[in-house]
Amino acid sequence: MNGNDEFIRPARSSDLDEIFSLESYWAYAPHWARAQLESELLRPDSIFLSAESLDSGLCGYFIGRILEEELQVLSVSVGPSYLRRGIAARLLEAAFSKARLKGCARATLEVSERNVAAFNLYQKLGFQVVGKRVKFYSDGSSALLMDKLL
Ligand SMILES: CC(C)(COP(=O)(O)OP(=O)(O)OC[C@H]1O[C@@H](n2cnc3c(N)ncnc32)[C@H](O)[C@@H]1OP(=O)(O)O)[C@@H](O)C(=O)NCCC(=O)NCCS
Repeated sequence: MNGNDEFIRPARSSDLDEIFSLESYWAYAPHWARAQLESELLRPDSIFLSAESLDSGLCGYFIGRILEEELQVLSVSVGPSYLRRGIAARLLEAAFSKARLKGCARATLEVSERNVAAFNLYQKLGFQVVGKRVKFYSDGSSALLMDKLL
């Protein structure tokens, strides 16, 4: 617990319906298939976390993978009624702690240059832009590559 009404815990299979709905809701989420989410729960190299509200169930999730000393941030989303309460920041911090314990030295991600909320979130948590993939996404936007030392 953290003084708010939400807590962070490992994701479980009973969360997947809500995670799938949340993924599908947001334009900027990667839109994984339900089967991909299921297999992610089983991967030993995955860090898959849920944020749960004491009042109303699942309110956010984080998916990342560990590749040697790197935590790759793959997806983080928060429910529309829970925004700007620090939930995404807490999910990411929890993932960083787990990744550090598993020997990770840095975190990496890609974010659309048009996704201002996510870009600001990552910057606030210490990520810096280290590269750009021009017109990487299907909407024509470029991907910013960001890195952070853990
Ligand atoms: C991006 C997202 C995960 C942020 O979740 P959140 O829980 O609202 O974020 P937090 O409350 O932890 O915000 C932390 C910081 O991020 C930045 N931020 C978050 N939302 C923002 C917004 N809409 N506009 C500008 N900055 C924003 C701010 O710096 C914020 O700190 P502040 O509230 O003290 O100003 C959420 O907007 C979301 O789910 N978006 C859709 C999915 C998505 O784009 N995911 C990322 C790509 S996979």
